[in-house]
Amino acid sequence: MNVLIVVFSPAGSTLKVAGLLERRLVDRGHAVQLLNITGRREIFADGRQQEFLAEQVKAHDVICLGSPVYEKHVEYYMREFIKGLPRPDAIWGRWAVPFFTYGGISSGVALSQAHKLLEAGGRQVLAAMKIESAHLRAKKLKTCVNAGLPGDEALPYIDELAGRIAACADSQPAGLSRRVLNYQGFREKFISALLNERFMHRHKYGKLTIDRERCVACSRCVAACPIQRIEWAAGKPNMDGRLPECIHCLACVNACPLEAISFVNGQAGWAAIERVYARVAREGSLVRSNEQPRNAVYPLVRPSV
Ligand SMILES: Cc1cc2nc3c(=O)[nH]c(=O)nc-3n(C[C@H](O)[C@H](O)[C@H](O)COP(=O)(O)O)c2cc1C
Ligand code: SF4
Ligand code: SF4
Repeated sequence: MNVLIVVFSPAGSTLKVAGLLERRLVDRGHAVQLLNITGRREIFADGRQQEFLAEQVKAHDVICLGSPVYEKHVEYYMREFIKGLPRPDAIWGRWAVPFFTYGGISSGVALSQAHKLLEAGGRQVLAAMKIESAHLRAKKLKTCVNAGLPGDEALPYIDELAGRIAACADSQPAGLSRRVLNYQGFREKFISALLNERFMHRHKYGKLTIDRERCVACSRCVAACPIQRIEWAAGKPNMDGRLPECIHCLACVNACPLEAISFVNGQAGWAAIERVYARVAREGSLVRSNEQPRNAVYPLVRPSV
């Protein structure tokens, strides 16, 4: 069987899971194409998703789509990417497998949202997976929620998912019902419905800026931005003007060797994030979410550990 794994992973956790899934499928004798779209200029800066996919993607039976959970939803750019996928045909398989990593606050409604988007694009969802991972890391943040995750505890789930995908080659499974992914309680669904990722990025998170005095024009931040929103203009990086909306992944901040990128409001921006993370680290969650089990493959069968 041919499997395509497409992954968007600003901080690398989802990519790690995708790599492990690839290895397990290859071990089972399947042909796997792993396509990491993080930072692909053609998609995020040039708006050439269709041409890029036509050039890159090989014929497959199953497409697996990996992304982080942002604001309890499918990360915004991944959502747009899924909407822009070609419908199933001789190249594009009709089976889909969404998988997410989330930072231990809540996987929110990401899986059911992905199911809806994939079904709208003419696909049937075969299985789905969520894996708890490290939350946002930055040199300037003292707290790291879930440091070191995903680790070995994720392996049985990835094995289980690979087994479900492999089984699809021998049988004609019924598609997964969206109801199965509707696992959050009323409160969590209500909060998710109120959370608008664009609004949060525009108005709630601090705006990032480059300190021109410190910047030595090494261009590492440009290469690190997963949505290619930092332009290289006249020998300098630029993150102002009419660029795609920042997703506050802090990849540019982490890539900068001279700490030249920070919040416009300086220390207050960092302190605001630190407060939230310290609370998550202390209490396990920001607001109580029904996140049990923490890792899962749906339909729910607990893999033997
Ligand atoms: C802007 C932003 C929003 C996030 N929102 C959530 C969230 O709602 N729930 C959660 O548990 N983790 C959240 N996270 C944490 C990520 O889902 C988690 O770190 C994920 O594993 C990152 O995947 P990556 O390493 O592939 O980028 C958020 C992270 C960022 C940067
Ligand atoms: S500008 Fe920085 S924080 Fe914003 S999306 Fe790009 S890398 Fe992430
Ligand atoms: S990584 Fe830092 S020093 Fe290098 S170009 Fe970007 S802002 Fe300037």
